[in-house]
Amino acid sequence: MKNLATTSSPGRILVVDDHAAARESVADVLRQAGYEVAGLASAVEALTVLEGETFHVVITDLQMPGMDGLEFIRQISRRRLHAEVLMITAHATIASAVEAMRYGAFDYLEKPFDVTQLEELVARAIQRGRLLGSDTISSDDHFQAPKDNGVSMVGTSAAMNELRERMGRVAPTDETVLICGESGTGKELVARAIHSLSRRAAGPLVSLNCPSLAPQLAESELFGHRRGAFTGADADRIGRFEMADQGTIFLDEITEIDLPLQAKLLRVLQERTFERVGCSQTRTAQVRVVASTNRDLNEEVAAGRFREDLYYRLAVVPLAIPPLRQRDDDVHLLTDYFLARAATRLERPVCQLEPDARKLFAAYPWPGNVRELENIITRACVLNDGRPITAAELRPWLEQPEQVDKPMPQGPLPVGMRLEDMEREMIVATLEHFDGHRAKAAEALGIGVRTLSGKLRMYGYAPRTKHFGTTAPAERQNLPLPAADFAGSLKSKSGFA
Ligand SMILES: Nc1ncnc2c1ncn2[C@@H]1O[C@H](COP(=O)(O)OP(=O)(O)OP(=O)(O)O)[C@@H](O)[C@H]1O
Ligand SMILES: [Mg+2]
Repeated sequence: MKNLATTSSPGRILVVDDHAAARESVADVLRQAGYEVAGLASAVEALTVLEGETFHVVITDLQMPGMDGLEFIRQISRRRLHAEVLMITAHATIASAVEAMRYGAFDYLEKPFDVTQLEELVARAIQRGRLLGSDTISSDDHFQAPKDNGVSMVGTSAAMNELRERMGRVAPTDETVLICGESGTGKELVARAIHSLSRRAAGPLVSLNCPSLAPQLAESELFGHRRGAFTGADADRIGRFEMADQGTIFLDEITEIDLPLQAKLLRVLQERTFERVGCSQTRTAQVRVVASTNRDLNEEVAAGRFREDLYYRLAVVPLAIPPLRQRDDDVHLLTDYFLARAATRLERPVCQLEPDARKLFAAYPWPGNVRELENIITRACVLNDGRPITAAELRPWLEQPEQVDKPMPQGPLPVGMRLEDMEREMIVATLEHFDGHRAKAAEALGIGVRTLSGKLRMYGYAPRTKHFGTTAPAERQNLPLPAADFAGSLKSKSGFA
């Protein structure tokens, strides 16, 4: 199969329309935009061609003699031919276009349309294929770093495919998305992908790194301020919400926003209205909100650090990004991808990796996830002398196994202690032994991470202070938390939190 990553044109497009003039005018526009374009007059013929050749996008007319556009789309999906399909339709047949989307078409274009609309839609279709087509990158392919700044999401593990599928469904809607995952798993990448796959792709994507906000300035940063509203406010200023109008705002690490500001954020999510600091005029912004967190929001809510109502509002569609150690072969694929990227950046041939280095990578638990892998590969490539990279060179940069495998402290058996108390002490001691790393602690204890999290919640374990509080109220413990998908496997930047 021809691979998008290795294709010199930005993509291959098949235009299917029985009207030669219409077909050629679409084809011409796309050729001029740099695509490789083929045109066919019938859907039957097109299906035969698609069985043998890869096209990234198929553009089809609805009304055609023989097989019509709708049946064509149904056949593409039934035969699992991987192409993004765009339907061209006259206004009178919009209902069919909507039906086409149910059969798997990516979008439709209503006649008459202009060149910009066509180009934009095709670019989005190509981007979608690159992000969501799990089979576009296989381990046999030699990667070439993308020449544009487009987002590439590498990985073919079941977990990544599931994530892609959910992203594909949620991206085109305007729903709020909460991205959860450990540090370095790719939360920002997913946020960018959601924006670029949405109907707001042509609008702005405004990112706000919440931990970097000074509390006094956070509100003004989000909503803007009026001149003179506070010391230092020497001019009117618009906030990120207004900047993101008609686009997407990405609130990165949202748990770092303090409680008073959380209340204001809730209002924006509910009513889309806000005021600039020092200004009474209520404003609205048409903004889609995407937020991320590397914490277990269930715990943040239980500890009273995060508003429960805001949590529910944000977690309409949660997307859990699995840690790298749960992604099978993805380490191997990502390694090749980053080797290729480093080569492009350094303008050198692609560095090779000895088999023992690959084995080391496969066995390593990657606490820093994809970011750690990327950093290590970049470093290895920068320092490389032309010989294949060995495990011995890489080992000193990985977290030392001794730290992970150090012997557990043993003591005399605490005869006379209540079993329940002993379990609690045992769990906390194990967790502390593993620096708060829940997956490792759960493994050592022989229980699942979710069970471990449940027990900690039941004990009222307050992670930040490492003290036991009173048992959390029952309704708190049982939040139907979508983020429970990853609860327990989270390791915060500060260790256990
Ligand atoms: N599936 C992937 N394919 C290709 N590159 C990836 C993938 N996942 C992550 N990356 C890259 O790894 C790096 C870390 O990703 P990103 O910044 O999105 O993670 P994050 O979860 O936001 O991290 P942090 O919690 O540290 O902010 C980035 O350079 C990103 O491009
Ligand atoms: Mg991030």
